[in-house]
Amino acid sequence: MSNPRPPIIRTFHSLHIFMLILGNRIQHSLENEFVGNYSNHFLSHVPRLLSSKITVLDLSLNNITGLQTEDFKPLPKLRVLKLSHNRIQHLDIRVFKFNQDLQYLDLSHNKLWRILCYPLMNLTYLDLSFNEFEALPICEEFANMSQLDFLGLSATRIQKSDLLPIRHLNLSNILLDLERFYGKKDKLESLPILSTKILQIIFPPNRAFSVQLDMSVSNLRSLELTNINLDDNKCSIFNGFLSKVINNLRFLNLTLYHIETTWKCFVGILQFLWDKPTEYLYIYNLTLVETIESEPFSYYETSLKGLKIELLSVKVYIFSQTSLYRIFSDMNIKMLTLSNTQVLHMLCPSKPSPFQYLDFSNSLFTESLFQDCGNLNLLQTLILQKNKFKQLYKIVQMTEKMESLKHLDLSQNSIRYDGKGNCSWTGSLLVLNLSSNELTDSVFRCLPPNITVLDLHRNSIRSIPKDMSNLETLQELNIAFNFLADLPGCSTFSSLSVLIIRYNSVSRPTTHFFNSCQNIKSLQAGDNPFLCSCELREFSKNIATLSNKMVSGWPHLYKCAFPDSYKGTQLKDFHLSPLSCNLVLLVITIVIIGSVLMIVATFLCIHFDLPWYLRMMFQWTQTRRRARNIPIDKLERTFQFHAFISYSELDSAWVKHELLPNLEDEDIKICLHERNFVPGKSIVENIINCIEKSYKSVFILSPNFVQSEWCHYELYFAHHKLFHEGSDNLILILLEPIPQYSIPARYHKLKALMAQRTYLEWHKEKSKQGLFWANIKAAFNMKLALVKEDNDI
Ligand SMILES: *[C@@H]1O[C@H](CO)[C@@H](O)[C@H](O)[C@H]1NC(C)=O
Ligand SMILES: *[C@@H]1O[C@H](CO)[C@@H](O)[C@H](O)[C@H]1NC(C)=O
Ligand SMILES: *[C@@H]1O[C@H](CO)[C@@H](O)[C@H](O)[C@H]1NC(C)=O
Ligand SMILES: *[C@@H]1O[C@H](CO)[C@@H](O)[C@H](O)[C@H]1NC(C)=O
Ligand SMILES: *[C@@H]1O[C@H](CO)[C@@H](O)[C@H](O)[C@H]1NC(C)=O
Ligand SMILES: *[C@@H]1O[C@H](CO)[C@@H](O)[C@H](O)[C@H]1NC(C)=O
Ligand SMILES: *[C@@H]1O[C@H](CO)[C@@H](O)[C@H](O)[C@H]1NC(C)=O
Ligand SMILES: *[C@@H]1O[C@H](CO)[C@@H](O)[C@H](O)[C@H]1NC(C)=O
Ligand SMILES: *[C@@H]1O[C@H](CO)[C@@H](O)[C@H](O)[C@H]1NC(C)=O
Ligand SMILES: *[C@@H]1O[C@H](CO)[C@@H](O)[C@H](O)[C@H]1NC(C)=O
Repeated sequence: MSNPRPPIIRTFHSLHIFMLILGNRIQHSLENEFVGNYSNHFLSHVPRLLSSKITVLDLSLNNITGLQTEDFKPLPKLRVLKLSHNRIQHLDIRVFKFNQDLQYLDLSHNKLWRILCYPLMNLTYLDLSFNEFEALPICEEFANMSQLDFLGLSATRIQKSDLLPIRHLNLSNILLDLERFYGKKDKLESLPILSTKILQIIFPPNRAFSVQLDMSVSNLRSLELTNINLDDNKCSIFNGFLSKVINNLRFLNLTLYHIETTWKCFVGILQFLWDKPTEYLYIYNLTLVETIESEPFSYYETSLKGLKIELLSVKVYIFSQTSLYRIFSDMNIKMLTLSNTQVLHMLCPSKPSPFQYLDFSNSLFTESLFQDCGNLNLLQTLILQKNKFKQLYKIVQMTEKMESLKHLDLSQNSIRYDGKGNCSWTGSLLVLNLSSNELTDSVFRCLPPNITVLDLHRNSIRSIPKDMSNLETLQELNIAFNFLADLPGCSTFSSLSVLIIRYNSVSRPTTHFFNSCQNIKSLQAGDNPFLCSCELREFSKNIATLSNKMVSGWPHLYKCAFPDSYKGTQLKDFHLSPLSCNLVLLVITIVIIGSVLMIVATFLCIHFDLPWYLRMMFQWTQTRRRARNIPIDKLERTFQFHAFISYSELDSAWVKHELLPNLEDEDIKICLHERNFVPGKSIVENIINCIEKSYKSVFILSPNFVQSEWCHYELYFAHHKLFHEGSDNLILILLEPIPQYSIPARYHKLKALMAQRTYLEWHKEKSKQGLFWANIKAAFNMKLALVKEDNDI
């Protein structure tokens, strides 16, 4: 036994087989139905250890040579078993005796030549065709299989007795494979009448028709015969065979596959069928040999509604084309299909024709077809797909007199329209298929007036002309695979409800479309090279508001192609801020932000005296920078004074007569900028110089101080030093009370200092002055080694 791959077991839900490939796992479905699919697994035996739950087992396309009871005994629920395309020679139906539920058994395409029977009462489908049986593999037990619906058989000969068991069964379908049939020519016994709706017989291929069977069938609705090879002599045998089989008066479909015959015989078969109860005759793969010459044909009344010939090859040495065309063109039937043929012309019917449907697709027809033909008044559908048509106006002429023509399919030709010629289409035409041609914009000047469905996909249309006449009835327009740069508006197509414009060159669709096309029910505009810019946002928004049913392919088929940074992004995910897309909004925003900044700046200037601080800052950094240029040793942090005193000029009397004497009595060295003035330096530099060289800075606060700009400078520098060096070197002396409101708003720093720090208050009363001086001295109570006064900085 070859090593089988693990089973692929699938769930089975009534008619739907969910194609979940789940590797080795067994899937439970709601109805507990299981499919074991071992098709094409190189098996030489039925695999063992199958799940007992399996109901459908596919073992087709393997190398299985024999079946045993043990193979199927573990599968009591088996209903469907496919064993076709194996190499089984011997069938004993008893191997299924434990599978009483078996309904479907396919053993076709094996090498069976022997069968042993056993009644399987539930069997509805049994296929034993394409095997090597000599006699028909029909057992007595079949007689009791009343459920049987499909029976496939194969044999090299057929005897009356073989068919007796199934005589009483009412079947739907009998498939009789007679590929290896040789029969007995001399003795023709009449076979029992079978009952089936469909009878399919496969005759031996590549052999002249010689099957002589006196076989008749009741209830037959459809007869399918394959491989019919007839020369003029065999023609009557075939017709004889047919007349036996079709012996009832019920209408019938006859299908012939792979028939090779002469024209004379073919016309003979048609003539034979013309008064038989045939409804549809379908011929696939007809080869005509020898000659095609004029044959008589009587078009008496027929029940035939439609004749369809697909794939016609003409291998003749004498070919009278008119004879061929004439037989078909004068047929008194409603539907005629000649497709995939080498036919290049058809005559106009010689009298008013009942043709309603003509299909000449995939052939060699040209404009010469039906010119000036007034006998196709009932024709509604004309299919000329995949032919050799070139001129649109000639086609208009061709259809001019077809008063009932509703549907014209001209797809896959080489049709052009150069704007010349008369375009008076018949008013009856509703559906026109011009897809896959070479049409350009001008085609819109040559369209049927009452058209409702127009297919123009795969042409070379670049734009829809503005001056075309209105197509008020047009409902569906397919214009995919062209070169349109924009969606059409609906001013000329006021009824448009379906628009397909995929694969064009639409990069910036206007929103005009959504305004003018109010009736639109379905739009397919994907696969266009959208330019993702501000303009596109409106389009995306409009599309996104339409329902999913209306816009097929949204969002995955709608992607940006430009600019490169957005390439491949779905329109759904493309966002730009409203600001960057609206010029007015942008200007307004800039103006507003600018104004706010200006107001803030003005406020800061007025309220906090920003320029003043900036100026101070500048001065300070200038001085520091200059200081940095001084040699390192001179930069050593050393003090020459104990204190620097800052005061208003108006308070100088108190300073000179009260403060200085008192401090200097205690040997406290004081730096006064006017006294320790270094010539050649600016006042500011002198002040800074003083502050830098002093251990503490004393500020004499009074309403005068507040009014003095210089004092503020000094306070500013001293305070800056405080933060710069982290030492507590500010001493505030309040000489006279300062009401908070009297401090100008811009001296924000002074306000802050007064609020935060404690200050020494000077009192006029002598009694309080003692404490004041003590406090002052305490503030200097520190042994500080001062360096010798040096005016160089
Ligand atoms: C089993 O798989 C083959 C393809 O591998 C498929 O053609 C066939 O339909 C499957 N049979 C069943 C019963 O699903
Ligand atoms: C079946 O076996 C033959 C040889 O015995 C081999 O040539 C063939 O490929 C096999 N076919 C399958 C489907 O396994
Ligand atoms: C199969 O036939 C048996 C009787 O032989 C019957 O009891 C059973 O219900 C049938 N099963 C199906 C699925 O028809
Ligand atoms: C068919 O069934 C009947 C009774 O239902 C029985 O008498 C007869 O033997 C069966 N025939 C065969 C061939 O099994
Ligand atoms: C087949 O159908 C005929 C009538 O249509 C009927 O008399 C006969 O009993 C049916 N046979 C079976 C086996 O159902
Ligand atoms: C006969 O063929 C026609 C057209 O193909 C089809 O509509 C009809 O159902 C067929 N009838 C039968 C009984 O097969
Ligand atoms: C058409 O039928 C011929 C035999 O009459 C056969 O040789 C040929 O392969 C068939 N062509 C097709 C496409 O089936
Ligand atoms: C037009 O013909 C093409 C095939 O050539 C087909 O795919 C398409 O569906 C047809 N259009 C209409 C509207 O029938
Ligand atoms: C176009 O054809 C119509 C009807 O066949 C005719 O009345 C009209 O004069 C023709 N126009 C031209 C320019 O040939
Ligand atoms: C076609 O439209 C015209 C008006 O444009 C109308 O007079 C005519 O009856 C219509 N023909 C058909 C067959 O609907």
